[in-house]
Formats: sequence, C-alpha cells, structure tokens
Amino acid sequence: MSADPAIMERLHRHGQEHLVQYWAELEAEARAVLVAEIESIDFEQLDRLIAQFVRGDEDIHVAASDVEPIEVTRMPETDGQRASRRRSASLGAEMLAAGEVGVVLVAGGSGTRLGFEGPKGTFPIGPVSSASLFQIHAEKIVALSRRHGRPIPLYIMTSPENHQATIDFLDRHDRFGLEHLRCFPQGRMPVVDRVTGKVLLSSRDHVSFAPDGHGGVLAALAAPAGDQSCLDEMRDLGVNTLFYFQVDNPMVRIADPTFLGLHREAAAEMSFKVVERQAPEEKLGVVVRVKGRPSVIEYSDLAPELAARRIGSGTLELWAGSIAVHILERSFVERMAGDGRLPYHRAIKKTPFLDDSGRENRPDSPNSVKFEQFIFDALPRAERWSIVETDRAGEFEPLKNAVGPESPATVHQRMSDQFGDWLEQAGAVVPRRPDGGVAFGIEISPLFALDAAELRAKIEPGLVVERPIYLR
Ligand code: UTP
Repeated sequence: MSADPAIMERLHRHGQEHLVQYWAELEAEARAVLVAEIESIDFEQLDRLIAQFVRGDEDIHVAASDVEPIEVTRMPETDGQRASRRRSASLGAEMLAAGEVGVVLVAGGSGTRLGFEGPKGTFPIGPVSSASLFQIHAEKIVALSRRHGRPIPLYIMTSPENHQATIDFLDRHDRFGLEHLRCFPQGRMPVVDRVTGKVLLSSRDHVSFAPDGHGGVLAALAAPAGDQSCLDEMRDLGVNTLFYFQVDNPMVRIADPTFLGLHREAAAEMSFKVVERQAPEEKLGVVVRVKGRPSVIEYSDLAPELAARRIGSGTLELWAGSIAVHILERSFVERMAGDGRLPYHRAIKKTPFLDDSGRENRPDSPNSVKFEQFIFDALPRAERWSIVETDRAGEFEPLKNAVGPESPATVHQRMSDQFGDWLEQAGAVVPRRPDGGVAFGIEISPLFALDAAELRAKIEPGLVVERPIYLR
C-alpha cells in the first residue's frame, strides 16, 4: 500500500518519492505526521534551490569591479565628533523613554559548532557566576528599562526544535524579571543530500528540517500567531524601532542609545554596527557597496584578492566587518515580510539521516545542504541606512566554538577584561598578567552596573581586587 495518489504524484514530479519509502511500516498516526511534513514543503522553491546550490556550480564570488567601500560613521576622534555622539545618545535615550524601541534577539540557531545540548541561550557563560547568555541579555534589558523608565519589550526568535526548551528555561527563571517577553518560532527548510539533492529523512516518519536562517526573522515576526503577529503587537505598543542582535554575543550593548540616535538622525530603515576587520580571512560579513547599493558580502563569498586589498600598505580597503548588531524600522520589516523575500544561501553541514536500508547514519564529514536566509540581505532594500563603527573590545566576542577562538575561554577572558577596565576606571586596582589580560574572572551583573560610568558611582576608589569577583 502506498500513500495518497496526489502526494505520490507530487513527490514523483519532484524526484522525492523516497520520502514515503517506509510507508508500509508506519502506523496511521505516524503516516499523518509524515504527510503533514511533506505538505509543508514548497517543492517548486526547493527544486530551484537544488538546481542553484546542489546541481549548479555557479561562481558565488561577486565581481571585484562591482565592489567598493561604503561610507561609515567612524569612531569619534575630535571633541566636536564626541559632542555629536553625545547628542545622538540623548536622542536614543529619548526614544527609549518614549517606549518606541523593542528588542529582537535571534536564538533559533542549531549551535552545531559549540556542540552544547539545549538552546545556546541557556549556555552558562558568566565568567564567575556561570549566568546563562539569556540571563545576561535579559538583565541588560531590565537595567535599561529601569534607567529609561519604560519597559522594553523583548522578542526572542526560537526554532521549532528549541522553542519549548527555551520557554521552559525562561519560565524556570521567572523570565529573569523581564516585564514583556514573547518567544516566537522561526520557519524551517528541508535538508537535502549534498550530492543528490534528495531530501533527507531523520527517521522513518520524519523529514529532516533545519531552521531557515536568521533572515527568517522577518517572516517569523509577521507570521500570525495567537491573537496577533509580533509586528501587530509592536504596532499596538507603539514600538517603531527594533534593536536586533544574536544570542551568542554576551558583550552586545543592547539598545545602545548612541546607535539608536545615529539611526534616527539618518532616518535610516536599517543600521549596522561594524568593526575594522583585522585580517583578510576574518570570518565577518563585509559591508560594502555592490553596483552602488549597500550590501553585505559573506566572508566566504568575497574573492580572496578583494578581501586582501589594502589602502597603501595599511588598512584593508574593505574594512567594515559586520558584528550582526542592527536596528530595523518596524515599517521596513513589514515591507520586507510582505513583498521582499530574502535570497537563500547554502550551508554545507553534517546532518544525521536514515539511509535507504533503514540505518541511522551519523556522518563524519558534511553530507548535506541547508538553505538559510541572512538578515543582512535586507540592507540593499533599505531606502536609507547608516553604518556605524564601534570598538570591538567593548562589544563583540561571540560564542561559536567549544574550544579555540570564539569559545567559552575567549569569551570569559574578554568579558573579564572589560569588567576589569571598568573597575580601573572607577579607581580600583586590578591584577593583570604580563599579556595585559586580567588575572582571574571578573564579572559585573548588568543589574549592578550597565557601564563604566554607572559602576564609578557604586564602588570605593582604591578597592583592590584580589580574587574572582561577581558584583551583583
Ligand atoms: P550562527 O550562524 O552562528 O549559527 O548563528 P548557529 O546555528 O548558532 O551555530 P552553528 O553554525 O550551527 O555552529 C548566528 C546567530 O543567528 C541565530 C543563532 O541563534 C545565532 O544567534 N540563528 C541562526 C537563528 O536564530 N536561526 C537560524 O536559522 C540560524
């Protein structure tokens, strides 16, 4: 006995009939689940993606002659520039006090490189407290809300896989004191075999799906859910401007008033924070102009000679590396979610699957292609934008890997170094190693102080830090 003829015909037309190869062994309930999963797939779109990314071998590199540097608001150097940034910060503070700003945190990734069981946001990253990424982000929002006298709503994007685990974790911790929190799941895409383009099965009755990339946030914010979509809710709350960041960077300055003010002054629809790329091969998206339009080129898509081009013997010509911190106008997100589908990218990854003989396979090397949208592809569609340089040491050290660069060890050190700097600015004595790093874990809860200026008012000058310390 086989599945419904209409489904069989559809699968046959797209060369995916193996998806029901275990049909005869399935109970009625499992069959219904499998059919629902198959019906959720847009096979026409999938055929196009397979033709482009699995069968096709198109050159993904952008032509060098089309690429030029983009204008960036650089770090202030003169008194005049510093005064101008202070004015931007006041404007941003007014936006926060008026309740116009919402925060969107994307936390739907699979975190395969970190290899941690559970949502990445639950990873204990505090260098002394072992506070989770979610706790650190939430405490910043609670502290900011208190400072500006208005609750700041937080919207967390999860994936279908980690949605419930994320909600359970946040509930167990009383939502870390957040007044307005909503979790919403992103969409997913089928995972295909990297050689044949066949959709993988994760078990006899389940198709293998993966989250559709952080760019999926645009559609997910607009998706109907419960009484209203997140965007509808934001409109009702009077939230017009969204601060976007990614779960893995505990150093992010959430809803940074200066950044908000610069965005507003430029009447921008989308803004980016960038840092100076340190090396041609550094894994940051590069913000540039392509054929005149502002764009981001993924590090892997930038031709090596272009990535390495320097101004004279000094800085890289295309120096602006995106740290995945953005501001988006709600109206822009609405427009993008309505008519402006983002393109898909290919991610070649290891995915466990059930093979044709019914055996579970855990491949040692990348065997599959996942299709993902990236939020930064919205930039060329923005009518106005702003690109703002920031100081890397102050706000960017993402947790990506279990060991080596961008791992718990580097994040702990970078966080402790920053808190050590704040303490020194407040007149404390902080022991340092010969390489300049602080000698042991130092941590300051955002609820104790959100920045160096706030800390200064709270500690006695002359304090000598002698052992790991967590100020809370
Ligand atoms: P990464 O690109 O680092 O991916 O995501 P990842 O899934 O977390 O980790 P790997 O590549 O499997 O090791 C950057 C940010 O975008 C979010 C992640 O949660 C992280 O905050 N993201 C990524 C999503 O929300 N959804 C996605 O589909 C992909």
